[in-house]
Amino acid sequence: MAESSSDLRRRRWWRSTTTRVLAGVATVAATATVLVTAPGADAAASTLGAAAAQSGRYFGTAIAAGRLSNSAYTTIAAREFNMVTPENEMKPDATEPNQNQFNFSAGDQVYNWAVSHGSKVRGHTLAWHGQQPGWMQNMGGSALRSAMINHIQKVMAHYQGKLAYWDVVNEAFNEDGSRRQSNLQGTGNDWIEVAFKTARAADPSTKLCYNDYNIDNWSYGKTQGVYRMVQDFKSRGVPIDCVGLQAHFTGGSSVPGNFQQTISSFAALGVDVALTEVDVTNSNTSQYSALTQACVNVARCVGITVWGVRDSDSWRSNESPLLFDGNGNKKAAYNSVLNVLNSAGPGPTTTPTTPTTTPTDTTTPTTTPTTPGGGSCTATLSAGQSWGDRYNLNVSVSGSSSWTVTMNVPSPERISTTWNVNATWPSSQVLIATPNGSGNNWGVTIMTNGNRTWPSVSCSAS
Ligand code: XIL
Repeated sequence: MAESSSDLRRRRWWRSTTTRVLAGVATVAATATVLVTAPGADAAASTLGAAAAQSGRYFGTAIAAGRLSNSAYTTIAAREFNMVTPENEMKPDATEPNQNQFNFSAGDQVYNWAVSHGSKVRGHTLAWHGQQPGWMQNMGGSALRSAMINHIQKVMAHYQGKLAYWDVVNEAFNEDGSRRQSNLQGTGNDWIEVAFKTARAADPSTKLCYNDYNIDNWSYGKTQGVYRMVQDFKSRGVPIDCVGLQAHFTGGSSVPGNFQQTISSFAALGVDVALTEVDVTNSNTSQYSALTQACVNVARCVGITVWGVRDSDSWRSNESPLLFDGNGNKKAAYNSVLNVLNSAGPGPTTTPTTPTTTPTDTTTPTTTPTTPGGGSCTATLSAGQSWGDRYNLNVSVSGSSSWTVTMNVPSPERISTTWNVNATWPSSQVLIATPNGSGNNWGVTIMTNGNRTWPSVSCSAS
């Protein structure tokens, strides 16, 4: 039976009163939107990205290249978000308009804007029945299978080492959990695993995701269909690292009561889970808090991306579904999301990483060990842009052009992103970088988490 609105009010009042008492806050106004800070917790963060980063998560947005000249848009985007998904610029019709002729200009524009503002990037998307270029729409069979493989290889090669996540396959299931009929499905049921295997070989440094909508309700056929596929991939060693729940609670759908169960069930398969394209009809505040709470309650829910900055930027702008209104003002839903993020429990990577004990970790900059090849190199750091919660460092490598730079970032600082380099970070404090063909000057963004001590670096030549 549905809960009456007075029951609901009572329950909310009880919850907020209880929380306030538990948190030891003596005098507060009688409102359910009071921000509760757990005893001993850091001061609340004042942007979505910084609030999410406190628990090792990100908060992202879709960015459209065509809006980057609008300063009202970029001001909010740069201030609030630390993950960017290009809204259309890395889709197949954008990146391969003619067969085997690639165009990365719009994708690069979004990528460059993002990393120069200290944000990471989610690639979206490589294999999809939607937004295919005309030449691909007319293709099928083995020609399309080869074209798909080539597309994944070439696009991923261009962004090699640069993206945190890639949506390898998008929206491949029907509502009942069977496979969606499409030209890609027509090439054989194994097309999805071929896409993931191709992707892993093309760029082992990025996390590979399956992304879909209407997979939010645990008891829904489509959710179960995708779950079984991921379970099967994991059991057979098909490479898959993450599942993206688009979470479009617009166009008639809303946050299901068992949303957290869905997130935790996927996470239990050993994949990252992310909410990748969030919007909510009229920005209903309780749905926005509920979806945020469901994510932060699951350690492996790594982040949330809303599908646009202001209501006027939304693909469903008639439903006013985002966190900023058309004038760039924060909406009530913004505050509810921020408050939930600020009171979040531990996230995916907040378990304290044991500091590396290698002796070289403690030596400061620019050591140049000799190597079998006889070359040597030096890495020098200089300050880049800096923000309230993070800072950029420029790294310049001299000497041998065949170098490996190792960087040790003191905890609680964390590596966030890099540019112009091939980089992996086996932990959030240790970065290993090699040239990616764009020269010897590159950069890194570091989340401060309250500390701004520069990392130590060492360089080895081969
Ligand atoms: C949408 C974009 O927001 C629109 O600008 C475009 O016209 C159509 O695609 N699922 C996805 C996204 O994975 O790529 C879609 O984005 C929204 C639904």
